[in-house]
Amino acid sequence: MNNQKIETVENRWDILYRDYPQVYDEFAGIGRDASVNHFIFQNFDLTGRVVVDVGSGTGKSTFALARHAKHVIGIEIEESMRRVASDQAKQLEISNVEFLAGSGEAIPLTDNSCDMVTAFTLAIHPPEGFRVFAQEALRIVRTGGSVISVGITPFWYGGELAEVILGPSRVTETDTEGVVDRILVEEFGFEFKDVDSIQDYGSLDRIIRTYGFIFGRKAIDYLRQHNKTTIHWKNRIHFKTK
Ligand SMILES: C[S@@+](CC[C@H](N)C(=O)[O-])C[C@H]1O[C@@H](n2cnc3c(N)ncnc32)[C@H](O)[C@@H]1O
Repeated sequence: MNNQKIETVENRWDILYRDYPQVYDEFAGIGRDASVNHFIFQNFDLTGRVVVDVGSGTGKSTFALARHAKHVIGIEIEESMRRVASDQAKQLEISNVEFLAGSGEAIPLTDNSCDMVTAFTLAIHPPEGFRVFAQEALRIVRTGGSVISVGITPFWYGGELAEVILGPSRVTETDTEGVVDRILVEEFGFEFKDVDSIQDYGSLDRIIRTYGFIFGRKAIDYLRQHNKTTIHWKNRIHFKTK
C-alpha cells in the first residue's frame, strides 16, 4: 500500500487497486451499491446458498452477500485488495466469507460447485476477457444456479461525468461496457436490468479525494467549478440461470 498520496491516479485502476486499496474502499462504500443490492436481494433468494463473488476487491460486495447467503467465497486477483478484505472480515467478525487468490478467467474452483456466481463491477482488460469469465462462471455454478454480473451501463463510465472524463468523442469510441454487454447478451443469452443510484459524498473535500482521485484532473476541475458533491450512476445488472 502506498501512503505517499498523489492528487489522482487518472483512471489507472490497476495502480488504484495495487497502491491505494483504502481509497477504493471508501469510494465503494458511498452508497453506489444500495439500489443494485436491492434489485438482487429482491429477485434472487440467497438463503442457504454458496456464492462465489469474483473480483471481490476490498470485500464490499462479498460482505453484502454474506448477510443473506450461507457462505461466500471472494475471488480476487490483486493481493493489496484481498488483504484489506481479509482484515475487514476479521475486524467485523464475519465468519461466513473467505477470500482466495485467483482470476475470473481461471476460477480456482471445481465444476458445479456453487449455487451462484456474482461479479460486482469486475472490469477485465481487455473486455473480451468477459467471454472467458462467462464460461468459467457457468462452469462452476450448478444447474439451476445463477450468474449475476453488475457492470456500468454503456456510456456511463464515471457516472454522469462520463463526457467530462473521456471527452465527447471518446464516450462513443471507448465503448468497453458495450463490448461486455454484447458478449453477455448476444453470445451467452444473459438478460439485463439498468438501475440508477446517487452517490452522495457530503462534501467537496471527500468527493475530490475519492471520486476525483480515481477519475482524474478533468473530473476534479469540474467538481470544483460546480461545487458538486453527488454523482448519478447507471449500473447494468446482467443475469442468467444455468
Ligand atoms: C471495481 S472493483 C470491485 C470490488 C468489489 N466487487 C466491490 O463491489 O466493491 C474490481 C475488482 O476486480 C479485481 N479484478 C480485476 N480483474 C480481475 C480478474 N481477471 N480476476 C479477478 N479479479 C479481478 C480488481 O483487482 C478489483 O479488486
